[in-house]
Amino acid sequence: MKSIAVLCALVAVAFAEDVCYNDVVSSCGSKEVDLKNCNAKYGGAHEVVFELQSYANEHIARSFDYLLMATHFGNYEKNREGFEKLFRKLSDSTWEDSIDLIKYITKRGGMMNFSARKSTQEPASEKTHELYELHALARGLDTQKKLAEGALGIHGEVTRRHEGYHDPEVASYLEEHFMHRQAKSVRDFAGYTSDLQKLLGEKSQTSLSLFLFDEYLQKSL
Ligand SMILES: *[C@@H]1O[C@H](CO)[C@@H](O)[C@H](O)[C@H]1NC(C)=O
Repeated sequence: MKSIAVLCALVAVAFAEDVCYNDVVSSCGSKEVDLKNCNAKYGGAHEVVFELQSYANEHIARSFDYLLMATHFGNYEKNREGFEKLFRKLSDSTWEDSIDLIKYITKRGGMMNFSARKSTQEPASEKTHELYELHALARGLDTQKKLAEGALGIHGEVTRRHEGYHDPEVASYLEEHFMHRQAKSVRDFAGYTSDLQKLLGEKSQTSLSLFLFDEYLQKSL
C-alpha cells in the first residue's frame, strides 16, 4: 500500500500539465476528487462563451418581440393574417435558434447564463410593438440585420488566429446554422419593405394595397 502511494506521488510530479489524465492520476483512488480538467473545453470556444450566451439571450428577447408583433397583427382590429404569419414564423425560428445556441454552448463545455447581456443590447421594454405594416417590416429588417451582425462579431473573434482564440469549429457552426439563413432573411425583409413601399406609393389605394400584400404573405409563407 505504501509503495502505491509513493508511486502515485512520483507519477503526479512527473506530469505537471493541466490535463484530465493528470487529474485522474494525481487523485489516485481518493473518493472526493475535483477533476477540473476533465471537461469538453478546448480551442477558443470558452473565450467567446459570454458572447454566445449574450447572443442566445438576444435571440430570446427578439423572439418575444416578434411574438408580440404577430399577436398585434392577428387581433380582430388589425386582422392582417399574413403579417401575423410572417412574425409568428420569425418568432418561432428565433426561439429555435436560441435553443440551438444553448445546446452548442454546453456541447463545447460551457454553461448557459440567462443574465449575460452585452452592454450594447437595448432593453426591450422601451419598444412598442403596435406598429403599422411598413414600420413593422422596417423593424424586422433592422432586427434581422442586427442579429446577423452579432454572428459576424463572434465569428470575427474566433477567426483572428490569435493564440487561445482561434476556433474554426465555432466559426463553421455559426456559418452553417446562422449566417446563410440570416442572409436570406435580411434579403426577404428588404424585398418585402421595398415592395410594400412601392405599393403604398399609390395614395388612393393604400387599403387595397395592404390587403393584397397581406394576402400575398399568407400564401407565400
Ligand atoms: C452571468 O452573467 C452575469 C452578467 O454578465 C454575471 O454578473 C454573472 O456573474 C454570470 N453568472 C455566472 C454563473 O457566470
